[in-house]
Amino acid sequence: MALRPIIILPDTRLREISRPIERLDSATGSLIEDMLATMYDAPGIGLAAIQIAEPVRLVTIDVAGKDEPPAPMVFINPEITWASEDKNVHEEGCLSIPDYYEEVERPSRVRVRFRDREFKEQEIDADGLLATCIQHEIDHLNGVLFIDYLSRLKRERVTKKFAKAARQG
Ligand code: NI
Repeated sequence: MALRPIIILPDTRLREISRPIERLDSATGSLIEDMLATMYDAPGIGLAAIQIAEPVRLVTIDVAGKDEPPAPMVFINPEITWASEDKNVHEEGCLSIPDYYEEVERPSRVRVRFRDREFKEQEIDADGLLATCIQHEIDHLNGVLFIDYLSRLKRERVTKKFAKAARQG
């Protein structure tokens, strides 16, 4: 288990499409451990593998409250198979766009098919924070960031800010 550096906007790898995981091997097992450690250390409630520069379809999430015991969730090759008509607005942030938060509207409930840590097929219905978080993380696997849902003005402003910060090291 190792803490891994999180890549930050405007790193172009954040725009890559991640590839499916074909089988569970020891490399995937260690990647899962690294992702959970990195997510808790950040701290964050969700992490996609591409955020630590691994372009595979793997997501970790823990939406447990501060006073609740940790509840790590692992999603391998997650896919949204159904989304509700009704929408929800949540303030979102991203470990790859630190200290930036904006409200995003998304379907309030989704059904997600995925493989678990034993590579068994599972399907869950998610609502509330989990629904928002899983949609945000699956977007990462497709090279999509939450700022893509904002107005062009807001998106350009935050992109420029991070590009400038990167140039200044
Ligand atoms: Ni994110």
